[in-house]
Amino acid sequence: MQVYRIADEPTGIGAGALVVPFFSGNPLEGVAAEIDDALGGVIADALSSGDVRGKLGDHVLAYAKDRPFRRVLAVSLGDRGSFEPYLLARYAGAAVRYLGRRNVDKIAIALPPQAAGNEAPCASFVAEGVITGSFDTTLYQEHPERRLATTDVAVLSHGFNADEIESGIARGVAIGEAVNLARRLAITPANDMTPTKMAEEAAKVAQAGGLQIDVLDEEQARHEGMGSFLSVAQGSAQPPKFIVLRYDGDPSSKELLALVGKGITFDTGGISIKPAEKMEEMKYDMSGGAGVIAAMSALANLKPKLNVVGIVPATENMPGGKATKPGDIVRAMNGKTIEVINTDAEGRLILADALCYANKLGATKIVDAATLTGACVIALGHAASAAVSNDGAFLDEFLTAARPTGERYWHMPYYEDYTTQMKSDIADLKNTGGRPAGTLTAAAFLREFVDKTPWIHLDIAGTAYLDNESAWQAKGPTGTPVRAFVALAESLAPLDSARDDAAHPNGARAELTV
Ligand code: BES
Ligand code: MN
Ligand code: ZN
Repeated sequence: MQVYRIADEPTGIGAGALVVPFFSGNPLEGVAAEIDDALGGVIADALSSGDVRGKLGDHVLAYAKDRPFRRVLAVSLGDRGSFEPYLLARYAGAAVRYLGRRNVDKIAIALPPQAAGNEAPCASFVAEGVITGSFDTTLYQEHPERRLATTDVAVLSHGFNADEIESGIARGVAIGEAVNLARRLAITPANDMTPTKMAEEAAKVAQAGGLQIDVLDEEQARHEGMGSFLSVAQGSAQPPKFIVLRYDGDPSSKELLALVGKGITFDTGGISIKPAEKMEEMKYDMSGGAGVIAAMSALANLKPKLNVVGIVPATENMPGGKATKPGDIVRAMNGKTIEVINTDAEGRLILADALCYANKLGATKIVDAATLTGACVIALGHAASAAVSNDGAFLDEFLTAARPTGERYWHMPYYEDYTTQMKSDIADLKNTGGRPAGTLTAAAFLREFVDKTPWIHLDIAGTAYLDNESAWQAKGPTGTPVRAFVALAESLAPLDSARDDAAHPNGARAELTV
């Protein structure tokens, strides 16, 4: 896929299709109005026919006889009053998915007039949407039925700030590719995406982006005292890998952001085995870890000025002959003992040691992401991830950074009651707290391993993958939390006017919303 800027007059652009935006129930504006005039009003006519309702991603196609572009695809941005730049990713994604399935390989895409003065983030979202919209889910088909054909996308810059559009495209491509990397790692089945394979993928990211990598094997993990992590791995024939990636964007600073991701490459539940129905979806139980690896690859490209460590404890959760049994007691890196009531509550067991390790490395802020609880899907459905924190200011900073990306996070509370629910009669903690507030007792458990470091836990069980496709996105893994991780890193990076603007193309991130 190539995404680039083109300065030509819209009416003169050679392409298989020209994509223009509209707002539902509003007269055409900008490039859409210009093209409509040139074509004698066909788009306005089609829109007034009532064939399209104008929900985000709805579209009409018109053929542009004798024009260098052969078709015009008008795609809805939804309501004019609720426009936000991230919707441009969905607009662009809907266009490449629709046209790509019709074998249109080269397209040109217009920005709405609202992009003026905000070109970089708008172009970034268009580029991100082009890349994420073209994600290929047919990796294992010998003769793919629905591979998308669009390979060449020009973003129209006529009438806009060309430099801003160019830097925005570069950023959007980096983010889109990272999102797709996370999705590819997640969609790959567990027989191929083993902990060893995840470590290899992380090594490739490190190699390509100049990051440091350290992969602890079972023996090294034991030496570190990671009894909780290893208790999950011991039922599996696949060796566990504890993956650590490091990006040093500000060697003069002592600040270190740790991104921690659950890397269960398959969750059978262990001895507390899961029912068969939908168990295949548990190949996605490493989505948090995939998000960490992918976010690190985006940071290697974007080069924000801060230090980040990415930590992914990777293992299967299997009911092998050596598996942990309910009632077994294990010891985490910080010395706390855990009574394993339910071996299916394994995510918190591997994260416990990963959070301790983040502290050992000197993390000054920690964010973890995990497909941790079914209870989260009950609470928030697939509409948002849960966010729980021990530090209100850090959480606010995260929520502010994440909001413009389009990924949704909803603040859920911490009360000491949840910690009380996790006390064991025989050990320091138990790994389940009963049915009430399952997402929050899991968070309270994790809190026992972060010490006083400002920390945010993201439960992405309902958002990491989706059962349904949309106009702009294939079904399956979504790439959550890659966009939020990158946005947080960029918001923590001190602005430095001497630096290449490519890392902060919008210059004023506070103005991301239009
Ligand atoms: N990976 C699951 C959580 C999950 C469930 C993610 C459904 C996505 C969809 C996790 O390891 C798990 O099994 N959690 C248990 C915890 C319980 C035993 C306390 C759960 O939610 O049932
Ligand atoms: Mn489980
Ligand atoms: Zn799990």
